Amino acid sequence: MGRQLTISCFRYNPNIPGDKPRMQDYKLEEYEGMTLFVALNEIREKLDPTLMFDFVCRAAICGSCAMLINGRPRLACKTMTRTLPSRFTVMPLPVFKLIGDLSVDTGTWFRNLQIRTESWIHTNKKFDFNALEVRMENKTAEAIYEPERCIECGCCVAACVTANIREDFLGATGINRVARFILDPRDERSNAEYFEVVGNEDGAFGCVGIMACADLCPMEIPLQENLAFVRRKMAAAGLKLQFPGVKIS
Ligand code: SF4
Ligand code: FES
Repeated sequence: MGRQLTISCFRYNPNIPGDKPRMQDYKLEEYEGMTLFVALNEIREKLDPTLMFDFVCRAAICGSCAMLINGRPRLACKTMTRTLPSRFTVMPLPVFKLIGDLSVDTGTWFRNLQIRTESWIHTNKKFDFNALEVRMENKTAEAIYEPERCIECGCCVAACVTANIREDFLGATGINRVARFILDPRDERSNAEYFEVVGNEDGAFGCVGIMACADLCPMEIPLQENLAFVRRKMAAAGLKLQFPGVKIS
């Protein structure tokens, strides 16, 4: 017989007039190989069909099921209940707009991020439908793929001190996105152009260096290295803009 789990869930539906934020306990029996995603589904199927939470893939790919699990942003589908005490809390990610209970709107936040960082290849080359694919060095493709692995779960944003107090902060995922395009030789934007987007306190220079983002990213993206890479580029671009005549490598 497995452990008896007590899952203390945040409950609040802002769309129900008069509803109040509260914690609600659910008890269920743990079994071998149980993930928190499975446990929450069991609660919804057997104990309380009104509990709101998000999931799509159940395989740590879609990024939908991120929540605060005993205070840490993590994916419910990647969290085995055996790694948690028999009583623990689940709460929605901070920073993002609450939809209800454990469900938040990460989509609008990430869409704004894509627009702000202009997350598409900027090039003046005309697209030729008949041309062969342009080859890319494996090393370059691998370097681009690394930041590209982001599943937009929002764990890094929720864990970030700056993002929690400044709503305009791009966060580690935004800086990671910029790194992806700086690395891409097909993107013809200059560092000075990127400087306009991230060379400020809302971007690469707003991070206070606690690095909870890197500790909590479920995809283990090297967010710290990507931030350092973008910061170096932006520092050089800033100096060039300040002292146009001086040669800065
Ligand atoms: Fe999630 Fe990591 Fe992407 Fe942040 S960088 S949104 S933690 S996958
Ligand atoms: Fe897709 Fe958890 S359900 S990441």
